[in-house]
Amino acid sequence: MCGIVGFTGTKQAAPILLDGLSKLEYRGYDSAGIAVRDGEKETEIIKEKGKLKVLQEMTDYGKAVKGCCGIGHTRWATHGEPSAVNAHPHATDDQNVIAVHNGIIENYQELREKLMKHGYTFKSQTDTEVAVKLIDYYYKKYSGLPVESIARAMVRIRGSYALCIMFKDYPGEIYCARKDSPMIIGIADGGAYVASDVPAILKYTRNVYYIGNMEIAQLKDGAVKFFTIDSEEIQKPLTEIKWDAESAEKGGFAHFMIKEIHEQPKVIRDTINSVVKDGIVHFDSVSLTDEEMQNIEQVYIVACGSAYHVGMALQYVIENLTTLQVRVELASEFRYRKMTLNKKSLVVVISQSGETADTLAALREAKDQGIKTLGIVNVVGSSIAREADNVFYTLAGPEISVATTKAYSCQLVAGYLLAMQFAKARNEIDEEKYQALLAEIYSIPEKIEKILEDDKERLQWYSAKLINVGDAFFIGRGIDYAIGMEGSLKLKEISYIHSEAYAAGELKHGPISLIEEGTIVISVLTQDLLTEKTVSNMVEVKSRGAKLMAVTTVGNYFLEDTAEFTCYVPKINPLFAGSLSVIPLQLLSYYVSIGKGFDVDKPRNLAKSVTVE
Ligand code: G6P
Repeated sequence: MCGIVGFTGTKQAAPILLDGLSKLEYRGYDSAGIAVRDGEKETEIIKEKGKLKVLQEMTDYGKAVKGCCGIGHTRWATHGEPSAVNAHPHATDDQNVIAVHNGIIENYQELREKLMKHGYTFKSQTDTEVAVKLIDYYYKKYSGLPVESIARAMVRIRGSYALCIMFKDYPGEIYCARKDSPMIIGIADGGAYVASDVPAILKYTRNVYYIGNMEIAQLKDGAVKFFTIDSEEIQKPLTEIKWDAESAEKGGFAHFMIKEIHEQPKVIRDTINSVVKDGIVHFDSVSLTDEEMQNIEQVYIVACGSAYHVGMALQYVIENLTTLQVRVELASEFRYRKMTLNKKSLVVVISQSGETADTLAALREAKDQGIKTLGIVNVVGSSIAREADNVFYTLAGPEISVATTKAYSCQLVAGYLLAMQFAKARNEIDEEKYQALLAEIYSIPEKIEKILEDDKERLQWYSAKLINVGDAFFIGRGIDYAIGMEGSLKLKEISYIHSEAYAAGELKHGPISLIEEGTIVISVLTQDLLTEKTVSNMVEVKSRGAKLMAVTTVGNYFLEDTAEFTCYVPKINPLFAGSLSVIPLQLLSYYVSIGKGFDVDKPRNLAKSVTVE
């Protein structure tokens, strides 16, 4: 997945493709490629690992590649490491079908096996190559008609995709198909453009069609035709894009952080669907066997920053569902601690970038001691992904805002699935509980959507009250404490308000002396059994002048007697409530930061990937 551009018309395609891809560079990618065809000649495919500059230099900025029809792609690896072979476009051996793809094909392994039985071989590790060859299979088996062959493949493919396809028998034409992955089609000056994101084609046209889910488009002779999956032609209105180049990069959102907050339901769904098939978690891609999980006694979770907070929350989840002992460690501490690790343990390192120096060093320390390691990592092919014995990839996609939101949320969910899988493999939960937990995990994206719909405006309103405060405290117990830690980090890193998180029971052992008239205390209360206890801590600080906000579960309306502002999240199994309660805290920090006029996506002194000690 990442960026797609396509063009067919009367101008040279390669410079347009490279220019369009350069407008998508901000999204992050690890390789790039183009396929361009000159009339009926053989299509030229040029792809390489690394920056677009490599491709630009190889093709003299597109001038060396002739042809007026082409597709281009920047890849962010999901299936298979970053490499020239895995880069798009992908093609059948006879170049009958050539395509670029964004999204994730969930059943690609099953389809790959089917195609292998029909004599297809595969060069890359990607799910995209499977889609290309599936379309080719139907094309050759049935009609030889592009729209029908694509439609047949769409029926078989599970997952999300934006596909741009060229067929050998149809020079000068580009076909597109879409499900749950963005794609727009524009027309101008006798040419037709397609892109995954507006900035790629904004320079050429503002007149676009939005291709709907499960629809197919044909770009030919400067015009576009749309078809349903039953190959029936449909009409679409042309829409004018009013965004300027800057807001187009953010999909119409004001900042990457708020865009990424809104992406959370989708990327969590993707992460769940990458391992859950037909009601069962398949850990084949993670390569941890049931036997290995049965033999483990101790889990160490090691990470930095927000990923460490994920570990803090997972500790409660794993200990609740299994008899495993869990220890959560800051990577910068773990790496220097002279500690003999239990040989029957698993070290889980969590990292969005997969490059954090301390986390990588901690991983190496564990490996030196002969301990099995598992990386929960977002960047395919990163150092941690390469060096860990096992990898569970989160599918958050590229995260641009320095303050993490969607990667954090995917890490949490990956951890829940890991905990469940341990419990199942060790016979510590029965099938009924397993299915009930899975259903709860499945409900997370929809519940986050609801929070985003319902609470945004209220939180924006409340955030104004925090703009001038000097200090804030986050309190909670159990998982709520772990979420408070993340809420506190979010607030301090982007709004520069001094903020601390405390286990609510610890308040009386020191921090309460800091409470004075107007101090902000934000409480998280989603753990039914602990709610009353935290409420009594809220009352203690309120009587000393604190101003209280509460994030709690729907139904706990009695909190309005104590807190001046209460934010409700939908009901869910308390083990997974952190995935919901963190959302208002992310939004709150975002609104405070923009309310103070700060550069929310690039907070001072911070880096997205900390590759030094
Ligand atoms: C930096 C980022 C944080 C992130 C931490 C760990 O401090 O600003 O958002 O949580 O690094 O990064 P990682 O890539 O290992 O998850």
